[in-house]
Amino acid sequence: MSVTQQQLAYLNAMGIPVWISRDLADATIFEVISNKANNENIENIQQQSPSQTAPTIQIPSHNNPPTYRSTPPPEYSAENLFNEIDQITQTQQLPKNATSIAESISAKTATEKLIDCSKFDWQQLQSTAINCQQCELYNKRTQIVFDEGARNATWMIIGDAPKEEEDTQGKPFMDRSGRLLDNMLRAIGLERSSVYLTNTLKCRPPNNRDPKIAESNACYGYLKRQIQLVNPSIILIVGRIAAQRLLKTKDPLVRLRGRTHTMPELNIPVIVTYHPRYLLRQPRDKYKAWQDLKLARALLEK
Ligand code: URA
Repeated sequence: MSVTQQQLAYLNAMGIPVWISRDLADATIFEVISNKANNENIENIQQQSPSQTAPTIQIPSHNNPPTYRSTPPPEYSAENLFNEIDQITQTQQLPKNATSIAESISAKTATEKLIDCSKFDWQQLQSTAINCQQCELYNKRTQIVFDEGARNATWMIIGDAPKEEEDTQGKPFMDRSGRLLDNMLRAIGLERSSVYLTNTLKCRPPNNRDPKIAESNACYGYLKRQIQLVNPSIILIVGRIAAQRLLKTKDPLVRLRGRTHTMPELNIPVIVTYHPRYLLRQPRDKYKAWQDLKLARALLEK
């Protein structure tokens, strides 16, 4: 018996009725990779365990809008309830000694000189990053992972750091999580080529470990200048680490998502959502990511 079914059984046994919201039904958008015509080469992102069954629906397009169920399947109803419990009990904490990028940069610049990228054009910025030795990560990188997409994009997506695939290919979000990100973007009508993608770090941390504060500090000048040059209308930060560092907070992701932020010194709205890597492990939270994307889109429509 899968966890979901088990949970449902518990609820049924306790006589607890369970409801599903429209938003939850809507979120199954990410459960699918469908649209064969458009997506023949894209991996099926349905990460449910074999015993979990999720209904499939088509990724929306103007010709094919999402449909809402009036009667949710019971296993989703149970999930909804347990998701809410998870959301409350999740304890993603920043290590005690961790601090924000802005704070750490001030501390670092007191003793070390970082490259001032604030006046660079794209060519200067990228070539400086290619030759960067401001932290130890340059020793082990195959190449830097600078960006991908449109440098005049409305949407800017920021992840934490390149992993092995990205280090090999030199582009952000090339792994499975990147394919899920592509599908999430496509669900709101965006193609990878029409958004701007980058990370807080331009070099891969060894063994895919989390970025260290000092590494984030050293790289922040590049990211800040990228944001200024692109000047997007909305920034979507994916994942806890990137969000905490860039927003100067230790709040867990569950408290950061679902509302609008601004990054220090940058007057651009920021929405935080789950990293697609997390969603691959926890597909039941995809509906929350879908809500976050809709929130970001709604901000643009204002
Ligand atoms: N995860 C990220 O945050 N960025 C990438 O580029 C790849 C995976």
